[in-house]
Amino acid sequence: MCGIVGYIGKKQVAPLLVDGLKKLEYRGYDSAGIAVYNEGAIAIRKFKGRLSVLEDYLENEKINGSLGIGHTRWATHGEPNDINAHPHTNNAGDIAVVHNGIIENYMKLKEWLISQGKIFKTDTDTEVIAHLIDYYYKNDLVEAIRSAVQKMEGAYAIGVISKNSPDKLIAVRKDSPLVVGIGEGENYIASDIPAILKHTRRVYFLEDDEMAILSENNIEIFNELGQKVEKEVFEVTWDIEAAEKGGYQHFMMKEIHEQPKAIRDTLSPRLNENNEIELNEIKLSKEELEKINKVTIVACGTASYAGLVGRYAIEKFARIPAELDIASEFRYRDPFVDDKTLFIAISQSGETADTLAALREAKSKGAMVLAITNVVGSRISREADNVFYTWAGPEIAVASTKAYITQMLAMYMIALDLGRKKGTISKEDCNEIIEELKLLPQKAEEIIENDQIIQELADKQFNNQSVFYTGRGIDDCVAKEGSLKLKEISYIHSEAIAAGEFKHGTIALIEEGTLVFALITQDQLFDKMLSNIKEVKARGAYVVAIAKAGNREIEKSADKVIYIPDTLDVLTPMLSVIQMQLFAYYVAIARGCDVDKPKNLAKSVTVE
Ligand code: AGP
Repeated sequence: MCGIVGYIGKKQVAPLLVDGLKKLEYRGYDSAGIAVYNEGAIAIRKFKGRLSVLEDYLENEKINGSLGIGHTRWATHGEPNDINAHPHTNNAGDIAVVHNGIIENYMKLKEWLISQGKIFKTDTDTEVIAHLIDYYYKNDLVEAIRSAVQKMEGAYAIGVISKNSPDKLIAVRKDSPLVVGIGEGENYIASDIPAILKHTRRVYFLEDDEMAILSENNIEIFNELGQKVEKEVFEVTWDIEAAEKGGYQHFMMKEIHEQPKAIRDTLSPRLNENNEIELNEIKLSKEELEKINKVTIVACGTASYAGLVGRYAIEKFARIPAELDIASEFRYRDPFVDDKTLFIAISQSGETADTLAALREAKSKGAMVLAITNVVGSRISREADNVFYTWAGPEIAVASTKAYITQMLAMYMIALDLGRKKGTISKEDCNEIIEELKLLPQKAEEIIENDQIIQELADKQFNNQSVFYTGRGIDDCVAKEGSLKLKEISYIHSEAIAAGEFKHGTIALIEEGTLVFALITQDQLFDKMLSNIKEVKARGAYVVAIAKAGNREIEKSADKVIYIPDTLDVLTPMLSVIQMQLFAYYVAIARGCDVDKPKNLAKSVTVE
């Protein structure tokens, strides 16, 4: 979850690296550094803190050179400080390495390298890579790196330069993303495309265990056996503007505003001229479909809350037993998954380590694996049997918004598709839901355009110690996402609890003025939910209800009501979540938090 960028060519590399790292800063931002080769030496500059610290330094102290690597870090091994920041070097300082991922056997390697006379300066796992390459170096950098990676266990994407091979930039990856950018008389490496998109749209995706050797005018890629690999060039079609703020103060706000479009883009291409859902990407034969006796959904964080809504939709429309598992826990209970299981992995980034590991476990047990992801070419998309892409566009803010909404949409569509094929939902009922799905972008716009009510509420309620979210049925699923959104960007403690569960313990925490968001959008559950609202109100809670427009009854019981446009009960999460995203955003702003880069978090979690 750190960022890597590297360059070989004729331009001054230092500003180019910093510029590229700016596009990756959302991946990690506790320190940043660069290594630049010039006239027989490698200069390293690296600093704790945001990239701007490095940038300010380089404003005053220029570093010349046209070969270099850069890194922005999210600490795993060793506290964030200048020394632990990347790049790392061997003792002579003539080999420099940047690394994303974790070297799991680094302690063993470190002890062995120390016994071989290497002196370690940092607490990182990455430093072993530089010493290992040094250990194997016998006048051939490529061979030395090849030998080094054979010793390394874990996940890595690395970029290497050496004083002894000033005509080469070398990259290797395993279980951590890395792309090679193709230029004219210059070439690039990066952990994510936005870092180099300003310079080239033509990239190679490196596969596991592949090594790329870049020079100014050439790129060669080899597999782990050292055989040359011919790769297809991938043309990037989206624009850098799509990954930039476009006039908004924060990516998160921009991405909240992009939700109507994200819904349209994900839905429309999958509706045929008869207004039926057609999921060409899911190739399940009739026999396979008939065989499915269970759906297992696995994901982390926000994606797992989309999975909760998905579980509900699958059981409702397709009448198949469905379960949702947290990816980080899935493997530890020897799960019942076999060739009759439809396994659905949900991941915005497509790179989340736990989700990937769960997917592999399910695959090894014979399950049919479907991925829902937002990133084309991501690891999860490549390992799944089938992929449903959420066309939300690049999501930069750490707090997921538009990806989440399209993940829910994907789950509704998959559930309806399965339901129609199995005959568990009638054409008429399905049509009614599709018609309503088509209206959601407009209704989402309506909420976003009228956000002053929620902003006013946030301005009054930003100082709470603790905020609770509650609901019943599908409201409970989405309440969990509302709560997560608030805590991750505003640092307020928050908990989401099923409304009926409140009185079994959590109600003890309610005192005078405690803010409780009560989602009450389900007609059938209205009376029961009303009783739950009364229970917390009786203990002093300040209750903000989220209800469907037209439901005035609730005004008698709640302290404040936030309305969403009327829609089918089953689809209300697609709208109620927007109110909760906006609340979290405005509270974070009122508290002066760094909305797009919340502390301790990273966008893509590629370690277990
Ligand atoms: C979202 O706001 C969170 N930052 C986080 O929970 C995220 O959804 C989770 O880490 C899963 O990421 P993924 O969708 O890329 O797999």
